[in-house]
Amino acid sequence: MCGIVGIVGNRDVAQRLYDGLKRLEYRGYDSAGICTIDHGKLERRRAEGKLDNLARELAQDPLHGTTGIAHTRWATHGAPTVSNAHPHIVGPISLVHNGIIENFKPLRDELIAEGRKFESETDTEVVGHLIAREVEGGAAPQDAVAKVLPRLIGAFAIAILFRDHPDLIIGARMGAPLTVGYGEDENYLGSDALAVAPWTQKIAYLDEGDWAVIRRDRIEIFDRENRLVEREIVESGASSAPVEKGNYRHYMQKEIFEQPIVVAQTLQSYVRPFEGEVALPVGDLDLSSVNRVTIVACGTSFYAGLIAKYWIEHFARVPVDIDVASEFRYREPVLEAGGLALFISQSGETADTLAALRHARAEQQRIAVVVNVPTSSMAREADLLLPTHAGPEIGVASTKAFTCQLAVLAALAANLARAKGRLTPDDEAAIVGHLQEAPAAMNAALDHDDEIASMAHLVVPARDVLYLGRGPEYPMALEGALKLKEISYIHAEGYAAGEMKHGPIALIDDNVPVIVLAPSGPLFEKTVSNMQEVRARGGKIVLISDAKGIAEAGEGCMATIEMPQVHPLIAPLVYAVPVQLLAYHVAVLKGTDVDQPRNLAKSVTVE
Ligand code: F6R
Repeated sequence: MCGIVGIVGNRDVAQRLYDGLKRLEYRGYDSAGICTIDHGKLERRRAEGKLDNLARELAQDPLHGTTGIAHTRWATHGAPTVSNAHPHIVGPISLVHNGIIENFKPLRDELIAEGRKFESETDTEVVGHLIAREVEGGAAPQDAVAKVLPRLIGAFAIAILFRDHPDLIIGARMGAPLTVGYGEDENYLGSDALAVAPWTQKIAYLDEGDWAVIRRDRIEIFDRENRLVEREIVESGASSAPVEKGNYRHYMQKEIFEQPIVVAQTLQSYVRPFEGEVALPVGDLDLSSVNRVTIVACGTSFYAGLIAKYWIEHFARVPVDIDVASEFRYREPVLEAGGLALFISQSGETADTLAALRHARAEQQRIAVVVNVPTSSMAREADLLLPTHAGPEIGVASTKAFTCQLAVLAALAANLARAKGRLTPDDEAAIVGHLQEAPAAMNAALDHDDEIASMAHLVVPARDVLYLGRGPEYPMALEGALKLKEISYIHAEGYAAGEMKHGPIALIDDNVPVIVLAPSGPLFEKTVSNMQEVRARGGKIVLISDAKGIAEAGEGCMATIEMPQVHPLIAPLVYAVPVQLLAYHVAVLKGTDVDQPRNLAKSVTVE
């Protein structure tokens, strides 16, 4: 989602600000801009669309100045036009903002009633006017910010430049991440450590309600009560080297192919293959006392949670409630004190999931977090932190983070089962053995890439596509449909195979491809029956199964994709590969922007 970069520097900053935005590009955005202070004037360049457009603006009309702020915007209030793009300039100040100001309407009405003129449709400009009003009335920058922040309701991170103070940026955080970076005779601000990585590794994460006064030679941080506070300075460890695509055409393709390695890497932290044991870093969290698990996540991470529900209930016999994060708080869930609440997130910053985590904490839940960004807000607020080791995921559509989440969740299910006395050492060793087989099986699945590429044209003309699965392959069907929607813009839905006859089968005709995920095994025959119901109505089936399943039910299908024969536990990890590849190749044939699909953001920091 929106990205923020700021430099209070000792030499021209525009190019470096642009480079910082480039490093934040993966978050998704639809316009961008930079503002600097040049000889007592606020100067800015803004552009719609990709950063290349901003680069052209800068090339035509370069920006100078040693202090500046920059922003990539993912539109919330107002279309992604130049006039809505940040930075906004209001009189003597300029600002950028990530998040949403929920009470912008009454504030805007108040400002309009005073005769203030707005140039954009954004909620951000309201903050600009509030601060400008104070500064124009004679307040010092610090006093102006301290006065305005308590008036803002919502989740936001902001950075402000003051025309008459060329050695100053003020940044503030409430609900959206913001980091300050400590340099040599320069200091920085960024929405994550990656933004400032080439300039410094010494960073501090602002806490909720904090605001920072950044000058060239010092940074002062204040809490929400305006008390001067110290925040720990840590080594960020973020790489300054851009993540490369290597020989791959897209980041998403690279990330799909990295899965066997990163899943193996992730498993290393959670299983002891020689001992045949799962080993989660549970610390003093007593898993044997867990009688209910509440899982909360969004999007692809939510589907990983749905699969975990099957596993936890199957192995540990512990009931699992699961919610999409945006519904969780508002449906007033009944949470017994001491329950385990499990949050799953690639970014660790998704606003809905973070708010749900805080709600669960207030309801006395113990908080477990499966997260890919170890420095994220969710990671920092967890009682039990279960990191995935997928490495930076740049493609907006999640792939490797998802399969790494599954690896962690399978180990968690087994650990919980052991703690609940539901697993013999032999059963545990067998689970560890199956998990260890996953990377090789995923490799075997990747071997079908060419075949999937050459059948993708069968799906390209479709207006609608259905995905069917049973058991843990039902959430995989949901995930397959989401991947296709996200990057190819073809409408797709996932259904539990047995649900087809209760309604969705009415959609079937010979223009609707139906992708069936059906590893051979106990549920296979039933899925095949549902498949026959589709076929009898002219539906065109793509069957994804193993050799045994294809031999039994492949005849008459429009296409088949053969997966290795695997244990049901790891089938979701393996079957993730063909659905990702299918979505990828369809999108490539359609010529869409695979890594940055329209309207989507990588880290969704607004509710
Ligand atoms: C889909 C996708 C999204 C995310 C969702 C949650 O490919 O990437 O659905 O899964 O926005 O994001 P995280 O996992 O960062 O909380």
